[in-house]
Formats: sequence, structure tokens, C-alpha cells
Amino acid sequence: MKVDQLAEVTKEQLNKDIEARAFLSEIKIATAKNGKKYANFVLQDSTKSLEARVWDYEDNETMFNNIKKGNIIDIKATVTEYQDKLQLTIKEVFLVEEEIDLSKYIPTSSWNYDKMQGNLMEFYDKVQSPHIKKLLDELIFSEDYYKVFCEYPAAKTVHHNFYHGLLQHVLEILYYCNTVAKMKRLSQIQIDRMIAIAMLHDWAKIIEYKKLPELGITTTGSMLGHIFLGAHHAMSVIEKIENFPENDMLIIINGILGHHGTYEWGSPVLPKTVEAQIVHEADKMSGDVESIMSHIEQNKDREEEFSGKLWNMGTDYYLK
Ligand SMILES: [Fe+2]
Ligand SMILES: [Fe+2]
Repeated sequence: MKVDQLAEVTKEQLNKDIEARAFLSEIKIATAKNGKKYANFVLQDSTKSLEARVWDYEDNETMFNNIKKGNIIDIKATVTEYQDKLQLTIKEVFLVEEEIDLSKYIPTSSWNYDKMQGNLMEFYDKVQSPHIKKLLDELIFSEDYYKVFCEYPAAKTVHHNFYHGLLQHVLEILYYCNTVAKMKRLSQIQIDRMIAIAMLHDWAKIIEYKKLPELGITTTGSMLGHIFLGAHHAMSVIEKIENFPENDMLIIINGILGHHGTYEWGSPVLPKTVEAQIVHEADKMSGDVESIMSHIEQNKDREEEFSGKLWNMGTDYYLK
């Protein structure tokens, strides 16, 4: 049976053979108990991500020679189940060499892209300090960065790991922040700084992660990380803006450096202002909620009452 989308692979196809086209987002070679090598693939398209095994990897190594992570492949496989999760056992793999519209194979934000861009602009328009506007002009609304910023995912796994994911994540945070700012009656300058921190907190993910459809972390990302890189780039821009007040600089840079909220989560300093703390809490809420919702979605075919454990939250979720 030929499936057009991976979402069509359901329990009804258990033990049946299928043919599908998908994006190969992960290859891991492992060794079974009998000493034989097998391969773990993660296949995805815009509808679903599925794990797949290639058991007789060693005997077929030549078939896989020209296949790399990031390729679009056609597969013939049997639908199986492992630990109550659907999985494919791959029998044959073919590299697709023709030009392909990648957006069909890479998960994309379900939010409307034009609307998201408009909303980002609305938050920018709320900023009243000219020097903070200049900082955002340089790092976000400039020819060099705008398109990349809007297209990038916000994470490699866990949350917002899709096209336009960073933009969606930043907007979620801005909405959460806005609610708190109104409720707690933040001053205009606090609002300006909070918007800047929210927009820039994960900005350096555009340096930390490889550009989609390639996946993974860049060398610079592994060596320096998005927290330092974001603070460093923001600082370089700030230094060139005339009369940028020192306290605004300190607060914005502290907000970027402190956005993970604790030393254990990788922040070198803790949030030292109310605006930095609000962005941290909003960032956590955006990431946690998105990761729980996509985890539940991925586990919705399970018969059990609970999903498997979601590692970043340390618990399983109720599915009924
Ligand atoms: Fe971050
Ligand atoms: Fe974030």
C-alpha cells in the first residue's frame, strides 16, 4: 500500500507492507545483542515523525552508502509496533534525487505565517525607546536576519522544532509577557526592555542550529551556545548605538543571559529584573506547553491511559 503522508500510518496497517516518501531526519547505527549492526532511522514529513529500523543493515550496507541524514527517501517497509508505539521495519530504501518541495516534509508551524509577521511588527510598534528600536532593527528587522529569524526552528527536539518555530515561540512569549505587563502595570521602559529580551532571548539559535532541512548543532553552536552568542551579538550592536543607556544595556543583556532561569539550565547569571524574570517564566511556559501537547499528539494512538515519559518534564501524560 502506498501512503501519501506518514499520518496515514496507523494501527490499522500493523504488520502490513507500505511504501512511503519521507525526510530522513536521523540515522543511528547500533549493535544488537547478537553483535549484528542495525540502523535506527527517524522519518518525518509535515504530518508525522516515525521511527524505523533496518535490521539487516550490515548485509545491505551498500544500499545505504549514498543515504545521509537530511535526504528525502522512498522506502518499502512493514508497519510494526515497539513498546506500544508504531514503528517501521525498512526493507528497501531509495534516494530521491529529483528537486522536492521541502516544506512538505518538514513540520511547519500551524500558525499563519503572514499573520505571525504582522503580530511581530505590532509588538515592535509597542516599543517607544528609539535606542531599543534600533537594536531590534539591527538584529531582527534587517536584511541580514529577518528571513532567517522568521524561518528557523526554536529547538532541535522537545519544542517548536519546526519551520517558523522560533517566530511562533517568540510570539507566544510576547503574548504571555503582554498579559503580565498589563496585569502588573509595568512602566513603558520596562515594557520596552521586556519586548527586546523576549525577541532576542533565543535569537542566536539562528547561529546555534544548522539551517533546515539540515538538522543538528553547528560547530559555533556547540562551542559557544545560544545564550552567550545572543548576549554577545546584542552587546556588539548596542555598543554601536549612540547614547544607549547603560542600565538598559545591563537589563537587556542580563535578560538574554538569564533566560534559562537557573545555573543548572545553563544560564550564567540569574534574571535580575522583573522584566527578565517574566521573560524567563514565559519562555518556560511556551516550551513546556508545546512539548507536552506535541508529546500527547504523538502518543494519541496508544491504548494505555498514559503516554510514555516525556523526559524534559520528568513524567508521563494522561491520554483519555
Ligand atoms: Fe534558550
Ligand atoms: Fe526560548
